[in-house]
Amino acid sequence: MTTNRQIEVLPSTDEVARRGASLFAESAVEAVEARGRCHVCLAGGGTPQDMYSLLASEYGGEIPWDSLHVYFSDERCVPPDDLESNYRMARDALLNPVNLSQSNVYRIPTEHGAAAGAEAYEETLRAQLYGSGGGFDLVLLGLGADAHTASLFPGTDAVSVQDRWCVGNRAPKTGVDRITLTYPALNSASRVVFLVTGASKAEALRSVLADPVDLAQRPAQGICPTGGEVIWLADREAAGRLPSTAL
Ligand code: 6PG
Repeated sequence: MTTNRQIEVLPSTDEVARRGASLFAESAVEAVEARGRCHVCLAGGGTPQDMYSLLASEYGGEIPWDSLHVYFSDERCVPPDDLESNYRMARDALLNPVNLSQSNVYRIPTEHGAAAGAEAYEETLRAQLYGSGGGFDLVLLGLGADAHTASLFPGTDAVSVQDRWCVGNRAPKTGVDRITLTYPALNSASRVVFLVTGASKAEALRSVLADPVDLAQRPAQGICPTGGEVIWLADREAAGRLPSTAL
């Protein structure tokens, strides 16, 4: 089976956030109707923040929040209240505003360093997901200007891991320790939605979508869930270098 790939170019970052929220709601309702719960993995970084705020402000009634189980694609090894924390960003923009029960939020633990945090999160994912043969219903991801996604950075060992769902890694540019889900975890998704905005991502988006697959250089190319779908949402600036053949 192959991966169904769709690329949507939206007129603005606001429209990317709005379309992302709509796809989030669609996945959540479908999963809960079919299986009584939805396992969703949130993206970090700055791009998804507007979408999370929109979900909190406009989708309070449409999404069965009590049936959502929320995970994280990766985390910086900082305290959960740190301004750099992906958990803090999602907590403040979405999880607290929709009153999501803390028992349904699976924060990546960073208090004891990358290796210990990755081991602990591996056990959480095993218990909640892959131990029973399950996977994510929805994974949200961003794209770095170096074509990384989650904390799967070019040239790092994490890109080669196939026997674990979560590992420690290090961001080459900042040297900050990270904890990241790996391809087996991210590719367990029924649906992956990438959110990519801004001219700074245009070359990365072009290379990921149009250049030959080379995971060492372009880790985001490794997101291809078998039998699942990958939807790329980009604003016009980020899509500015896409060849017509990629659309
Ligand atoms: C992180 C993210 C990372 C992010 C990209 C894009 O922890 O930073 O997981 O993969 O999605 O770097 O970041 P922006 O959305 O801030 O451009």
